[in-house]
Amino acid sequence: MSDLFTTTAVGTRQVRLDDPLFLYPLQSQIARGRAAHIDPSAAEAAEGVVHVLTHDNAPKLADTDDGELAILRSAEIGFRGQYLGAVIATTPEQARHAASLIEITYVQDDHDVELREDHPASREPESGSGDVRTGNVDTTLAEAAVSIDERYSTPMEHNNPMEPHTTVALWDGDELTLWTSTQGVHPARATLAPILGVEQEKIRIISPHVGGGFGSKGVPHADVMLTALAAQAVPGRPVKYAVTRQQMFSITGYRAPTLQHIRLGARADGTLTAFAYDAISMSSQTKEFPEESTKPGRMMYAGDNRRLTQRVVPLDVPVPSWMRAPGEASGMFVLEIAMDELAVAAGLDPIELRVRNDPTTDPDTGLPFNQRRLVDCLREGADRFGWEKRNPQPRARRENGWFIGMGVASATYPAGRQPGSVARIRRTPEGFEVSIGAADLGTGTWTVLSQTAADALGVPIGQVDLRIGDTALPNATVAGGSTGLAGWSTAIVSAAQELRSEHGADPAVGAEAHGEAEANPAAEKFALHFFGAHFAEVRIQPTTGEIRLDRMFGMFSAGQIVNPSTARSQLIGGMTMGVGMALHEKGELDPRFGHVVNHDLAQYHLPVNADITDIEADWLDEKDPQAGPLGARGVGEIGIVGAAAAIANAAFNATGVRVRDLPIFGDAFL
Ligand code: MOS
Repeated sequence: MSDLFTTTAVGTRQVRLDDPLFLYPLQSQIARGRAAHIDPSAAEAAEGVVHVLTHDNAPKLADTDDGELAILRSAEIGFRGQYLGAVIATTPEQARHAASLIEITYVQDDHDVELREDHPASREPESGSGDVRTGNVDTTLAEAAVSIDERYSTPMEHNNPMEPHTTVALWDGDELTLWTSTQGVHPARATLAPILGVEQEKIRIISPHVGGGFGSKGVPHADVMLTALAAQAVPGRPVKYAVTRQQMFSITGYRAPTLQHIRLGARADGTLTAFAYDAISMSSQTKEFPEESTKPGRMMYAGDNRRLTQRVVPLDVPVPSWMRAPGEASGMFVLEIAMDELAVAAGLDPIELRVRNDPTTDPDTGLPFNQRRLVDCLREGADRFGWEKRNPQPRARRENGWFIGMGVASATYPAGRQPGSVARIRRTPEGFEVSIGAADLGTGTWTVLSQTAADALGVPIGQVDLRIGDTALPNATVAGGSTGLAGWSTAIVSAAQELRSEHGADPAVGAEAHGEAEANPAAEKFALHFFGAHFAEVRIQPTTGEIRLDRMFGMFSAGQIVNPSTARSQLIGGMTMGVGMALHEKGELDPRFGHVVNHDLAQYHLPVNADITDIEADWLDEKDPQAGPLGARGVGEIGIVGAAAAIANAAFNATGVRVRDLPIFGDAFL
């Protein structure tokens, strides 16, 4: 089948194919109810149309547990934008036009898309970490010398990688080939195979280049399933579905909005005695996904009396999913503002408050931390940023009519390593072929894994021929949760060592060896986390409310940095996404119709170059002895965590106005 396609350094959208067909979906125009009747006749008669797929003729699925992926099972509708079918035609334009001809008769039920704290459907998530209750929070809070009690919120936010999701599906008998933009070819196959009722070996997924993901390509969404099902009607012909930017807002996941309530009690010296954190996130009736904001609150700070609860409210909305640092990003926005508020209440510098509450063992698991260097990040970052120039008094610094303020916030993320990645290294006449099903989202995996293999083999990088992004290669875990590099590099180093020990320093052509990443044994003895500190300086015009980010600096503890250039790019990329969180991003869900109104990049705002004038990231010079042979942890998510809080805290320092709801719009300061 490789003669049908050329895949030379192109994303799935650019995959070229012979005799292709194109898919355009039918999507529900109501948020809840039934598609009582779908009349495909006008579409079937339209020029170029080859097939119309609906629940009436859809192939049966072998497993329907996953509400998001088990599509076209019935006429039932769980959210606006849900797939109700698809048109396959000779050109994309014909497919789109024919889809517009299809008449759908709806039976509409009342829907509910509004997240409220007192929602009767609020419940503990099935896949959550569970509540924490130790000591007596209420009594301690009532007796605390210093306390805060505040409510915060974060909005719906949408992953918008440069390359929207695209899939090409081709059935050959009972074998399926999928070219699809994914953060993990093997995990995607393992998810899809049982639903389609096909052995994993019968499915090949190819995805050597991914134009960004930010979590939205971490698991396959319904668009992949729709394309795979539709292509069954036209065996032997490739069907391509390029999801539009607008469709992404209801199909490919998003960060669920949250409502969060934090109560902190401390002694007069700022040391925490009570820590109460209750968070609720919106979820979907179609499939549960908790945006677990309380996760970092479990391990960040000390305090003997603790209460943490996480709830979800399943509503008639699209299915939320991973978005860069799911849970940590929304949680640390809130927790790090709460700490800033406690610092004000205690009359302490916010860095000093964090230093005083830095625990030596993980309050959640009781395990000792491995390299908890938060204080080093805060202190080193403060020096580099010029924190001593900050006036703790709000509205104290004014230049050319603008109020100027500085803010700080901590960052954290779990340092995981998933077991199961396998690398194969083979001696070739030209050098070494290194194969692993890893993914490069544009983050530098191609570069960094080639470097890793070259170092481990002791050869110049030009001798390494790296192959990734294909289930025909050895198994790899997902590029998600900042676990990719740790697992893949462990497998590659182990394969290189195996090759050396089996075949010597200069193996003969054809010699090969495998290496596998096991579960990290250190995870049983240590609490493994990244840490970091963000510093922001903002300027706010009091007459117009305009807020501008002048400077931002992030100092991180991420273990060994394999490639400074790609790591810096990842870190400032994460921070830039944090700027988007702070100042721009909000999906406006219309409660009357249940859809995101601003579903394109004209209306859903992201930071652009003019918003990011001076941003820099650096890291502590270190090697993580628990992270595997490289001592490296990867830097995918830590950059976004806490970034928005540093900006909100800087805005408070500038103006004395405390913003607790994202994004920060100028009217807050008027
Ligand atoms: Mo990241 S949200 O785990 O791709």
